Amino acid sequence: MKIIFCLFLIVSFVWAGCYVEDSSNNKRNPVEKGTGGGISGAAIFKKYCQTCHGADGKLGLNGAKNLSVSILPLNQKIEIISNGKGVMTPFRAILSAEEIKAVAEYTSELKQ
Ligand code: HEC
Repeated sequence: MKIIFCLFLIVSFVWAGCYVEDSSNNKRNPVEKGTGGGISGAAIFKKYCQTCHGADGKLGLNGAKNLSVSILPLNQKIEIISNGKGVMTPFRAILSAEEIKAVAEYTSELKQ
């Protein structure tokens, strides 16, 4: 059972590997659980958004918006992250509502 779970993790390109030992085996994305059990917007960004937006939000691959100059309010960011826009993938099926909110807040931090 554990091996199957690990294979699933690898297939869904979780680079961190098979260190998940706790009872939350049914959680889809254990990587998002930062220390203290909170959701880390930074970790989510690194995993799902950096490829197009870059670590500092400025990469702009495939026409991705420069997040460090984005003027969108949080609720519209949440909307775009959830439903996607143009080339951007919708993350509604990949991330939970809490995770989307956390990563949206993180993109606002890229402004400073
Ligand atoms: C496949 C590449 C790709 C990935 C992965 C991606 N984005 Fe995007 N993102 C885009 C593109 C392209 C746009 C511009 C969409 C448009 O306006 O047509 C965009 C726009 C945005 C915007 C709107 C910015 C503005 O001011 O209009 C936000 C916020 C955003 N992305 C956040 C994220 C977050 C957070 C993630 C990870 C959960 C993410 N993106 C992952 C390509 C991507």
